[in-house]
Amino acid sequence: MDSDLEVLPSVESLTKRAAQHFVALAAAAIDDHGRFAVALSGGTTPKQLYACLAAPEWLACVLWPQVDVFWGDERCVPPAHPASNYRTAREALLEHVAVDPERVHRIHGEDEPDAAASAYEHELRAAFATPAGPPRLDSGARFDHVLLGMGDDGHTASLFPHSPALHETARWAIAGAAKAEPRRRVTLTLPVLNAAADVTFLVAGRVKAPALARVLEGRRDPDDLPAQLIAPQNGHLHWLVDADAASQLRRR
Ligand code: 6PG
Repeated sequence: MDSDLEVLPSVESLTKRAAQHFVALAAAAIDDHGRFAVALSGGTTPKQLYACLAAPEWLACVLWPQVDVFWGDERCVPPAHPASNYRTAREALLEHVAVDPERVHRIHGEDEPDAAASAYEHELRAAFATPAGPPRLDSGARFDHVLLGMGDDGHTASLFPHSPALHETARWAIAGAAKAEPRRRVTLTLPVLNAAADVTFLVAGRVKAPALARVLEGRRDPDDLPAQLIAPQNGHLHWLVDADAASQLRRR
């Protein structure tokens, strides 16, 4: 794994940089193996990225019919629920681009969580032609791009501190529980996330500064700081952060 940190002066410049990165990865993946498999993040930070990619000047920059859209995690709510990560991305991005609806692979938050996790794993395995066994690292058989956020407690996706999901080594998706409502979640697991070709954290805001400093420069404590567990085996890890989130980092 190689990793890098980019500190952008504002959320606006962070958003533009993330959009440039998304577009570049999509073009490279489609050129290499004919499709771009991306896992979108939940939460509020990526909303500006989704709106940017849906803007007229960016709309044609991605060959959307060649994109397979997944999510890193989902809240166990119906798809029209305000807290749904699917709804957030649908409204801000997917309704505005020429993505093939058959290639939008949402997690069924309306279903019983364990069943939704199993169904999602089945869909992932089909998309990556890996009917059994661990995720593969071959180009085209894994995520080309995974977008992740980070909570102010160091969680990412729905991998929360001290949760059993942190130690899952076989299943690709698993049901979990958050402290904040909606508590029931479904999340990708570390084997899938760490098989990706590119994992990019988008972190913004002063509220994230203490956790970001602990994750990047503090003692290794992955059970308490799950974001420390993200380490693509044969891929790139990028931290795209704004100056506020980076304000407690020693290195810049
Ligand atoms: C979710 C996300 C979660 C999020 C972080 C940061 O479903 O909420 O997967 O991991 O990325 O909590 O959220 P914000 O971007 O809202 O700060």
